[in-house]
Amino acid sequence: MNPKFFNSQILKTALAVIFPSMLLSACGETSPEVTSPDGRIKVGIQNSGNVLSYAVVTDGDTLILPSRLGVVADGLTPSKDAKVSVSHSKFDETWHQPWGENKEHRNHYNEMAYTLKDANLDFTVRVRAFDDGIAFRYEWKTAATDTVVVTDELTEFAFAVPATSWSIPGNFDTYELEYRQLPIERVDSANTPFTFQLESGKLVGSVHEAALYDYPEMTLRNKEERTLKASLAPLPDGVKAYVSAEFATPWRTIQIGEKPVDLINSSMILNLNEPSKIADTSWIKPQKYVGVWWGMHLGTMTWVMGPQHGATTENAIKYIDFAANNNLQGVLFEGWNEGWESWGGNQSFNYLKAYPDFNIDSIAAYAAKKGIELWAHNETGGNIPEYEAVLDSAFAYYKSLGIHTVKTGYAGGYKGGQFHHSQYGVRHYQKVVETAAKYQLMIDAHEPIKETGIRRTWPNMMTREGARGMEWNAWSEGNSAEYLCIIPFTRLLAGPMDYTPGIFDINYDRARSDAKRLAWNGPNEGCRIHTTVARQIANWVIIYSPLQMAADLIENYEGHDAFQFFRDFNADCDWSEALDGEIGKYIVVARRAGENYYLGAGTDAEARTVKVPLSFLKNGKEYEARIYADDTEGGDPTKVVISSRTVTASDILEIKMAATGGQAVTLTPR
Ligand code: NOJ
Ligand code: CA
Repeated sequence: MNPKFFNSQILKTALAVIFPSMLLSACGETSPEVTSPDGRIKVGIQNSGNVLSYAVVTDGDTLILPSRLGVVADGLTPSKDAKVSVSHSKFDETWHQPWGENKEHRNHYNEMAYTLKDANLDFTVRVRAFDDGIAFRYEWKTAATDTVVVTDELTEFAFAVPATSWSIPGNFDTYELEYRQLPIERVDSANTPFTFQLESGKLVGSVHEAALYDYPEMTLRNKEERTLKASLAPLPDGVKAYVSAEFATPWRTIQIGEKPVDLINSSMILNLNEPSKIADTSWIKPQKYVGVWWGMHLGTMTWVMGPQHGATTENAIKYIDFAANNNLQGVLFEGWNEGWESWGGNQSFNYLKAYPDFNIDSIAAYAAKKGIELWAHNETGGNIPEYEAVLDSAFAYYKSLGIHTVKTGYAGGYKGGQFHHSQYGVRHYQKVVETAAKYQLMIDAHEPIKETGIRRTWPNMMTREGARGMEWNAWSEGNSAEYLCIIPFTRLLAGPMDYTPGIFDINYDRARSDAKRLAWNGPNEGCRIHTTVARQIANWVIIYSPLQMAADLIENYEGHDAFQFFRDFNADCDWSEALDGEIGKYIVVARRAGENYYLGAGTDAEARTVKVPLSFLKNGKEYEARIYADDTEGGDPTKVVISSRTVTASDILEIKMAATGGQAVTLTPR
């Protein structure tokens, strides 16, 4: 390790440049700066006439120049004679979660609370410095008002040095947008996770938020040059949030690593969330699932009842049988309930009534007999008032049917000028999670609010969409292989994604030969999957989701040798590590569930060979590696070349990937 990291004189000099007065006045416990446990990251706070700013120094170099802090609201302005107090603390704990990429996490940080206090107001900036990043939030208690009306947030991120970045535009209604790679000064608006890599190559980082409750999401707007400012989703009256007189905002976070995979391997976002509020989590179970779903997106089936209705009793039995015969646990049926005629219109769904050709009682009984979990699907079309009115009774009904999972959807504008990502939206999504917990239901949210680690506190909040998923391949120009190499370093830093992976019929040959293919949401012609089939398999490992779907029509898996990978895959993993990767170029991830390991690798539009040491395997053990590889010789993207060999922890696996390809490997102890 570079001895410079331990040279506190260099760190002090860098901070002195930023905050000369701060260091001059610093004396022991009142010094307004906090350092990560390994000493490499420092955050300082400056106060100039009650105008607060912060700066970040890493390894002696300034990363964030003095940048504004604060929230604009009546009752939150400290008086001139407000007293400053600063306190420091340390925290180091290892904790466990019922499921996740990793079941064990270390939460290790140093904390500084910087408080301004007068007769009416107690306003604190709480800062945490971890070895893998920094976070801060605002906490207040005011006697000036009962309700604090937040009209703006002043938080800024003034990048000190040139960096390139990957993000989607800031949009308060959707995350289903294309990623752009831009120098920071050319970013007009962005949503988070906002990932950056310094031009010097010295570090990578990502701006995001943690523990988003009762507050709008934070997007970023360019203020000037390389300074991005927080921009909160507004309510219809332009106010950003109405909150109580005593409140803590979500954390504003900057993950920091030396190499891109460090960001993926960080637990910082989860660590900033509170422990589980659900005492008995025994009913919360990661699982693999299939569903009547892809047919609707391809246009060979419909959600609405009619001659091509997907969710029929006959199809339900077929899908349940398929799940039972292939070591899968769950089955989803979209279009099971009445109301789909209104989708895109007045958006009025009946969450309690199945279409007459979907015999829900007999289907639920059959699923139970076969040991398969039936899922419920609730598309709301964005009609929140109607959904909230029946939430309790619908969830009680699903519970009575033995259902443990609900996939929700918000495909449509909210009523009354509300944004999906505003305080109104955040409150709604949270209400669904907490109501679901009452009925022992897990949630898979599509068109969700972004993940900010609340799955630690609400472990029934399993997975969500929140980016362009597989569906885009069915009715648009689709998702590129490069996109699939960007999301592990951006969207997936926030948490699990229900990408709905694993399409084997990548050219839609079966659908195209079907004359009854309906045009749905856009162009049908020219649509296809833009990767090889081996990469589709690898995505089951790469795109982490505790509820992992095999999204294709079951006919496309039946009799396909490569489906063995998903049969053997275990969605309930214990440990994960991103082993190698470059943002937008390639990614290699390994996971372990029990004694078995799964490895997934994927590349962009370039063919690539990556050497992966298998040192993560247990020493002294032999493993059978079953390899699902691209047809690099023949160049057929539909062909998966399957082979087996014996490997140990001292082996190096040479992964050869075709353009847009990938590789998946199961590693089973012999
Ligand atoms: C969009 C969701 O992402 C997709 O999975 C679902 O099939 C449709 N909405 C209909 O609910
Ligand atoms: Ca969607």
